[in-house]
Amino acid sequence: VLAIRTFNQSDLEEYAKWSSKPVINALTDLEHPCQALADYMTIREEFKTFDDVILTFVGDGNNVANSLILCGALLDVEVRIACPKGYEPDSKIIQKAKELNNNINLKIMNDPYSAVNGANVIYTDVWSSMGQENEKEFKDKDFHNFTVNTDLLNQANSDSIILHCLPAYRGKEISNEVFESRNSRIFEQAENRLHAQQSLLTALLS
Ligand code: NVA
Repeated sequence: VLAIRTFNQSDLEEYAKWSSKPVINALTDLEHPCQALADYMTIREEFKTFDDVILTFVGDGNNVANSLILCGALLDVEVRIACPKGYEPDSKIIQKAKELNNNINLKIMNDPYSAVNGANVIYTDVWSSMGQENEKEFKDKDFHNFTVNTDLLNQANSDSIILHCLPAYRGKEISNEVFESRNSRIFEQAENRLHAQQSLLTALLS
């Protein structure tokens, strides 16, 4: 097995094309599927089922959001993406998700407050991904209304949980208060990366 964590999805696909061994996407600019496995594991641990679960991702519609959409389509989970205009997920990902699930329940929204209304899971990620650090200044401005804070949390269900794939910038995409709140399952989610990835290796090697 070859696990590759890189930037360009096309580099990973090139490896997969020529490799005689399974190639795992351990993160690219387009997708982060291993993270999504741990995320949905954490959600099921919490709610015991995916029925009626609404997951709202607040942030940039890039790799993490894309994988939540694809995995959500496979698991039939309602996924809402709340992002500033211009940061919507890749149209090819949305198309692929629709092919995976004819009855997909996916909403792309620009207002985080209506997007978290009734949500059970609120998920956020850094505003500037790895390799995009030089874009920080203008991205911080574009995302200023997208911090997951108590105000936003008050619009969601009282038993909603908070997820973040880490590393986090407290005070930017998530307030310190919410990060440390009793709703946070961020460290359980981080632990589940270990279990989910062990399962993936077991599945690939057996
Ligand atoms: N979107 C983030 C995910 C980090 C786990 C990044 O690509 O840096």
